Amino acid sequence: MNVPLLLTPGPLTTSGSVKRAMLRDWGSRDQGFIALTARVRAALVRIAGADPEEGVYSCVPIQGSGTFAVEATIDTLVPRGAAVLVLANGAYGERIAKIAERLQRTCTIYRTEETEPPSPADIDKLLQDDPALSHIVMVHCETTAGILNPLAEIAEVVLRHGRALIVDAMSSFGALPIDVTRLGLTAVIASSNKCLEGVPGMGFVIARTDALRAAEGNAVSLSLDLAEQWQYMEKTGQWRFTPPTHVLAAFDQAVTEFEEEGGVEGRGRRYAENCRVLVNGMTALGFEPLLSHNLQAPIIVTFRTPADPNYEFERFYNALRARGYAIYPGKLTKADSFRIGCIGRIYPKDLEGAIAAVKSVVEEMGIKRLGKA
Ligand SMILES: Cc1ncc(COP(=O)(O)O)c(C=O)c1O
Repeated sequence: MNVPLLLTPGPLTTSGSVKRAMLRDWGSRDQGFIALTARVRAALVRIAGADPEEGVYSCVPIQGSGTFAVEATIDTLVPRGAAVLVLANGAYGERIAKIAERLQRTCTIYRTEETEPPSPADIDKLLQDDPALSHIVMVHCETTAGILNPLAEIAEVVLRHGRALIVDAMSSFGALPIDVTRLGLTAVIASSNKCLEGVPGMGFVIARTDALRAAEGNAVSLSLDLAEQWQYMEKTGQWRFTPPTHVLAAFDQAVTEFEEEGGVEGRGRRYAENCRVLVNGMTALGFEPLLSHNLQAPIIVTFRTPADPNYEFERFYNALRARGYAIYPGKLTKADSFRIGCIGRIYPKDLEGAIAAVKSVVEEMGIKRLGKA
């Protein structure tokens, strides 16, 4: 079977044991499955830096991809009629704004370039000038460029103004430290198939329980009502609607493997090493990473499209795919680019293999000028 390594932002390469965890069927009312759901929810609260026993934060899983969880969070935690400030420096920030607008929340967008993090000082001023902005929504690692946004500094500003901060940590949760308690976050959102290395199919939100309680009746959507999902789960241990049983079983195994690797610290270390090998290897070949080292999250790296007329993404992709590596197209609005991911069940030696494959493809395609100009 010719299965490539996925060097993408997800779905990602998962371990054999995670895949094998899906080989049995579960009934949704089965006590074993109820215990599995409870175990995964508690583990996710701990990974987010809170104590599930204390009950200040709770985990609400939701069926679907990450976007479903983002939409559920905004629909539930932002009251109708409230004003939201969305920080956008890429496609996922723009998607949050689109969701807020679609849900008819009043939305102000603070945009920076895709290569520029939002400025805490600008946010301070925006919040000072507009006391109606009750909720701030931001992306932690903006996967569009792979940039790391300054979560701790922004959280400090938002907390000082007494507003609520909601974080889309889809591509960073589990790889970079996020301490909801210390940062005073209202909610953090992620999904099963990114840095926790499960399979796709569910999102989850770690939210303050007081915010979930206060959110009753906010949501326009029935299936994406996180408050109802939470209340039902707390009461019965079950999911409101058909649960993604196999996804959850795989996720339970993925969380065990995450803990065995040393949690956020161990996983983050492997990804940082993957990223270092990737950036050094590609730079040595002559490719230009988009971001400087201080802005680059160890999640996914954007490289500028080579200026050489022999380069063409589709051919480059297919030749790498034939050698066993699936890369990803760029998503920038202004510069042509492609991306290579550092996350999933991949190791530095895999990135070394990918770089050797890139070198042979470059030679095969006759690409001489690897930089952008
Ligand atoms: C930061 C961020 N937010 C949201 C999403 C959307 O997740 P999904 O594609 O699972 O809906 C992604 C996906 O890569 C992401 O990286």
